[in-house]
Amino acid sequence: MRLFGILLAGMLLATGVSATAPPLEAQSDSTRTSVDRLVERYRTGRKIPGITIAVVRNGHVIKAKGYGTADLEPRELLVPHLVSTLAWVTAGVCAAVLVLGTIVTGSGPHSGDAEQPARTGFDPRSVAWLHADVVMLFVGLVVAVLVAVWLTSSSDRAKATWRGVLLVTLLQGAIGYVQYFTGLPEVLVGLHMLGASLLVVTMVLGVMNLRSNPL
Ligand code: HEM
Repeated sequence: MRLFGILLAGMLLATGVSATAPPLEAQSDSTRTSVDRLVERYRTGRKIPGITIAVVRNGHVIKAKGYGTADLEPRELLVPHLVSTLAWVTAGVCAAVLVLGTIVTGSGPHSGDAEQPARTGFDPRSVAWLHADVVMLFVGLVVAVLVAVWLTSSSDRAKATWRGVLLVTLLQGAIGYVQYFTGLPEVLVGLHMLGASLLVVTMVLGVMNLRSNPL
């Protein structure tokens, strides 16, 4: 890096950029292209895939430019665009399930230490069923994405992640029903919260793993 800094300073001097020189943008095309040529020659000579340079003078950036490639492994979609869109819609419905879940909690006995235990004032039974109904839609969408990924992609990672999403969803749904019909025991409510957190993690991975080089 230090070597490159020295080299770049040398290149700029060689091309006529001095401490008193105007910004490179204001300089002649030939000065700018010779800087570009020098950086490119340095990059290709050392087989460096990509370089970004910034030249600062008197606290002002007088040139900032990237050369070569910024990304060795482009994030390509591993499934058709429609499947990716379906996965995003599924993630959106997942968010709706989570929001409705907190509304159910806010309508029931675990809504905090407020004097009135139910904060929202909604009928807990009705909001719980609405929450469960959207979960049904969500399960259908997760199955649809899993089948679509299975049929259209050769990525084992994408398939495994969506299998994980389905598994966590089914376990979470089962815990939800059991806790509802057994009077909301605290252990199950805690597990339901843990399941919701795990689902967020697997859903994020599910959407990300539909691309190569996801991170
Ligand atoms: C993918 C499936 C599900 C997810 C992601 C999910 C998520 C959540 C979340 C985030 C909460 C709020 C937790 C809190 O604020 O402490 C919640 C609460 C609740 N969920 Fe679910 N849920 C799912 C399925 C179900 C199902 C199928 C039922 C069945 C009726 C259900 C019943 C409940 C009940 C009763 C509460 C309130 C628990 C309490 O008193 O704190 N959930 N859910």
